[in-house]
Amino acid sequence: MTTPIILDCDPGHDDVFAIWLAAAHPQIDLRAITTVGGNGLLEHTTFNARVACTVAGVSGIPIAAGAAHPLAGPLHPADWIHGPNALGGPVLPEPTVPLDDRTAQQLMRDVIDAADEAVTIVATGPLTNVALLLRDAPETVARISRIVWMGGSTSRGNVTPYAEFNAWADPEAIAIVLASGVPFTMVGLNITHQALITAEVRERISATGTRTGAFGRELLEFFCSTYEKAEGMPDGPLHDPITIAMLADPAVATTVLTRLDVELSGTETRGATSVDLLERLDRPHNATVALDLDVPRFWALIEDAVRALA
Ligand code: RIB
Ligand code: CA
Repeated sequence: MTTPIILDCDPGHDDVFAIWLAAAHPQIDLRAITTVGGNGLLEHTTFNARVACTVAGVSGIPIAAGAAHPLAGPLHPADWIHGPNALGGPVLPEPTVPLDDRTAQQLMRDVIDAADEAVTIVATGPLTNVALLLRDAPETVARISRIVWMGGSTSRGNVTPYAEFNAWADPEAIAIVLASGVPFTMVGLNITHQALITAEVRERISATGTRTGAFGRELLEFFCSTYEKAEGMPDGPLHDPITIAMLADPAVATTVLTRLDVELSGTETRGATSVDLLERLDRPHNATVALDLDVPRFWALIEDAVRALA
């Protein structure tokens, strides 16, 4: 029984590995890829999604571009981590995978309408596209099985002391998604910082011997170099593919059903994700939050996916 998904992303080095895992794992039925402004400008994240598929030999998956900027305010690309083109490191080949002429919202609606079962939306960037879909096409809510999002944190942030980048980029979008009532899973920094790209991991990725592995190694080297400069983390965290891994192999992570709220107006805390793990607020549970990662199991999934691609 495979899981039909739409992957909404902002490639982004770690988003690329989410695309690859989604395309390669037999339990995942990747129906569409949509892109959003986040790590980079929309033109870059969209081009990079096409590059990720081109390098890996992934074809037949429609790719459509979505929102260029957050719902409320300007886009601030994370170029200090991903570089000016949002995929620093390797020379990027001219993509052979076409851009769909639909908008991300239209492609999402078409995929959801055509599916004979509810579709899971995985989001690994700001939630802008997903929020727009839920706001403008509320009839899709009943046909979305779950939204699994890399973003937020049960503890501190990475772009401000309290806000993680995807949450900080578009907190209004999180509020819309939470209010929709669609089952929601948050994969925050508290778990993604367990997926550290060690030298051994980098060796294993290039040792797969595939074109994807060679390209992926260059991505990881760049990503770890900028993480070392920006956050003193020489083994950068591969955030985004944990979302896919949890769908492909649920035993890879532990989770808890809890209360999640997002700060929209705090002077110092805008974009902070408040997770009531201690059950202090007596509010209804509204999110599943990922807690602990089976790290060897996760890296085996990534290595197997890279080996299975071109
Ligand atoms: O904070 C990490 C998140 O922000 C990841 O999704 C990364 O790709 C960036 O988008
Ligand atoms: Ca991302």
